[in-house]
Amino acid sequence: TEFAADRLLLFGATGDLSRRKLLPSLCALDADGLLPEKLRIIGTARTEMDDAGFRDMARKALEEHLPAERRGGMAGFLNRLHYQPLDASTLEGFEDLAEKVGSIGEGSDTGVAIFLSTAPSLFGPTIEGLRHAGLAGENVRMCLEKPLGDDLESSRAINDAVADAFPEERIFRIDHYLGKETVQNLLALRFANILFEPIWNATYIDHVQITVAETVGLEGRVDFYDGAGALRDMVQNHMLQLLSLVAMEPPTGFGPTAIRDEKVKVLRALRPVKAGETVTGQYRAGAIGGQAVPGYDEELGRDSDTETFVAIKAHVDNWRWKGVPFYLRTGKRLPERVTEILVQFRCVPHSIFEGAGGPSPVATHPNHLLIGIQPEENITLALMAKVPGLDENGVSLREVPLEIAMPDAFVGQYRRIAYERLLLDLIKGDQTLFVRRDEVEAQWHWIDAIRAEWKAGNMTPRTYTAGSWGPSAAIGLIERDGVSWHE
Ligand code: BG6
Repeated sequence: TEFAADRLLLFGATGDLSRRKLLPSLCALDADGLLPEKLRIIGTARTEMDDAGFRDMARKALEEHLPAERRGGMAGFLNRLHYQPLDASTLEGFEDLAEKVGSIGEGSDTGVAIFLSTAPSLFGPTIEGLRHAGLAGENVRMCLEKPLGDDLESSRAINDAVADAFPEERIFRIDHYLGKETVQNLLALRFANILFEPIWNATYIDHVQITVAETVGLEGRVDFYDGAGALRDMVQNHMLQLLSLVAMEPPTGFGPTAIRDEKVKVLRALRPVKAGETVTGQYRAGAIGGQAVPGYDEELGRDSDTETFVAIKAHVDNWRWKGVPFYLRTGKRLPERVTEILVQFRCVPHSIFEGAGGPSPVATHPNHLLIGIQPEENITLALMAKVPGLDENGVSLREVPLEIAMPDAFVGQYRRIAYERLLLDLIKGDQTLFVRRDEVEAQWHWIDAIRAEWKAGNMTPRTYTAGSWGPSAAIGLIERDGVSWHE
């Protein structure tokens, strides 16, 4: 695209996301010379302060959240920062903001990228204010951070409000999982290799498991998290994105339309889930890595029915995935932080090794591909091999891993913060790694139906001890089908 922003307008500039991720990502990009030379960043929030005050705040945030070796160009970066306090409830506030943005801009042919990292309740008034102040023109791109609603209806309302001022080609919805290099590598693994695609279907794949396990608890996000729960906080967005990337048909190219068209087809093919195909849980006090941690109620300070764990047996109803379960699970206060995708292949059609002494492991699904996404990127293909030796019963077999540790394969290359990729793409106007409206709505459609099932069945979360892999029913959910979670 021709678009390149020379001004980035950051709403919620004093907030947590800005300090922990956005400013550090921008500074890291700058240190590597990747930001457009003229780019200025204008922060805005309710706090009264001037440019110098904002630069000071940013410096502290960078020192805290960006490793020293990536802070090379910090002084230069801080000089790019400006600040304008804003009371989003008044239209005058937006006029002052527009004046500031105009006074910093280079001319009318340059672009403005707006990043909204504020409470969703401010989206409406902010968009109205921007439009009133002439900050919604053709050279403006709008980037939205989650939560974009808490069900299909509220998500539609937000999308409608934004669509009133910006066409879809200028809207950038963030799912930060798409900014992770390891997630993008899923596409490389599938579509830059000839090996996997021919067997990437129900004929050869028995089931898929997607796990996003976290050790953290509520992290002080009392109102937000308790109002959301694991299903809406993690499954609706991040896990469904991972599922789409695993299940999608080969796109014709690496462009925003081709990729998103294929993802949305998967989302629309998701079979509605019954309550009995889900398990929810909420953690009780326990220990993680030898550290005692409190239960969810204690952290929250009140009783709650919000789930901090969810496991789902999902199906993608299309030709490729006919009959292949996708088991999803995510939770807080699990034993380790790990995001991984396991693709379990089927048995060989006929084993020539049967009866060769002992139970043959070939009978039980010999091959799997394990794609480790976090904390480290490791790809492991489990293969069967002959155990060396002169076994008197013939040939003994054992599973051996063919393993690639990405950090070893790409020595000296650091993995970037997910927001570096996304912010750079926003500045350049590339939507490929952003979520399109039809995707979000298909996601919510599926999620809402699950919540309706829970409600109809009066389902409340089971308890699990912090530091365990969730309620035992989650193990039952998959063992019923004769398989077990990968650990
Ligand atoms: C966020 C959720 O979207 O993703 C958090 O709101 C969660 O609850 C976080 O902790 C996980 O992100 P990451 O990048 O640490 O896997």
